[in-house]
Amino acid sequence: MTIDLGRLKALLTREQEQFTAAHPRSQALFERAQKSLLGGVPMNWMVRWAGAFPVFVAEASGAHFTDVDGHRYLDLCLGDTGAMTGHAPPASVEAITAQAQRGITFMLPTEDAIWVGEELARRFGLPYWQTTLTATDANRFAIRLARHITRRPKILVVNWCYHGTVDETFATLRGGAVGPRDGNLGPPVDPAVTTRVVEFNDVSALEAALSHGDVACVLAEPVMTNIGIVHPERGFHEALRAATRRTGTLLIIDETHTISAGPGGYTRAHGLSPDLLTIGKPIAGGVPAAVYGLSAEVADRIRAATTVEEADTGGIGGTLAGNALSLAAMRATLERVLTEEAYARTIPLAQRFADGVEGVIAEHRLPWHVRQLGCRAEYWFRETPPKNGAEAAAAIDPELDRYMHLAALNRGILMTPFHNMALISPDTTEADIDLHTRVFRVSVEALVGG
Ligand SMILES: Cc1ncc(COP(=O)(O)O)c(C=O)c1O
Repeated sequence: MTIDLGRLKALLTREQEQFTAAHPRSQALFERAQKSLLGGVPMNWMVRWAGAFPVFVAEASGAHFTDVDGHRYLDLCLGDTGAMTGHAPPASVEAITAQAQRGITFMLPTEDAIWVGEELARRFGLPYWQTTLTATDANRFAIRLARHITRRPKILVVNWCYHGTVDETFATLRGGAVGPRDGNLGPPVDPAVTTRVVEFNDVSALEAALSHGDVACVLAEPVMTNIGIVHPERGFHEALRAATRRTGTLLIIDETHTISAGPGGYTRAHGLSPDLLTIGKPIAGGVPAAVYGLSAEVADRIRAATTVEEADTGGIGGTLAGNALSLAAMRATLERVLTEEAYARTIPLAQRFADGVEGVIAEHRLPWHVRQLGCRAEYWFRETPPKNGAEAAAAIDPELDRYMHLAALNRGILMTPFHNMALISPDTTEADIDLHTRVFRVSVEALVGG
């Protein structure tokens, strides 16, 4: 089944008109915001929603939020994983409220920090931990430390990866050569100077890139999640670990999104043994907090290569990092929200989402597929699952993407922007998933003229 482009354009226009007509208050706020916020939004990505303006949020709870026009939405975006816990999880809110009344930030530790370190060690298998405010910072600091202790200049990432706004990772392969990713703003140096890039699942390219002996660390998601979901092929992780060990390269696994796989992320679910591990977004119930973990050997090397006198001038850390509020939120979220029981609910619901979407795709013989990783699922406009980022990127269809997002939004469902991802929170229900399947069916039927 191929999609008629004229029909797609007409549908998109209709959905745009419907969106604008239904959101007068959001539109008015967006117009007012033009006078004080660059682009009318507090953060530049918020211009990338499917409608002519973003919906302004009034309030949220669990799997739903309400906008300023009074519409209630099923939220399958969940702050692009920041609210994977569901919005305002009561246990986190209780701890956040209590800590806020006792003081928010001291640049001194609280006992919660130790509980969090012990729990992270139990979950991910790495003994030592440090906190940051964002996953971006966790990655930046992990990279710096890796370069420092290995005395090597470069890092290696996977083509079409995303690890936050980390300069070294904004690199892509173009005809086999490393260059700045499209849209890369003001790179400090050509990323080819700092970064080697290989395709995911390409073991021989990986081995060749590491053979130069100049790569401090590989930074990788265990499953790609930022260009659709691209799973590792059988044996890829074993080969990655063997090649990094053989060449004295440190392995940093970024679990920020793959925490969808279970309470210990993909690392625990699949027995990976990285040297460093980074994770942010949902671990404090939506309060800014992230962490990086270190193996005992990496910790020893850091101790041997740093001094107390220079602890605050090494280019890692931050005044607000490790603040008492984030740590109280992290403790409550890890202890009472992102639990084994929560995953036992959310993973089958993601399966239900995938089955529903897959059924509609099969019925209409669309050249699309669905992939799942724990409580995260995503459909992609390609018949077969891609093997790497380049194959996935080649299937991006901005118009079709915009239509599917807007059709869902106009029928009360928020999907994750930039791709077609749905994330399931502990508060999401079977009825919510079935609503998505119905809305997906209606959107597809309009598209294929059924
Ligand atoms: C895998 C991964 N790592 C790190 C980040 C950065 O997170 P943040 O923007 O919260 O710093 C992201 C953001 O999407 C991500 O997908």
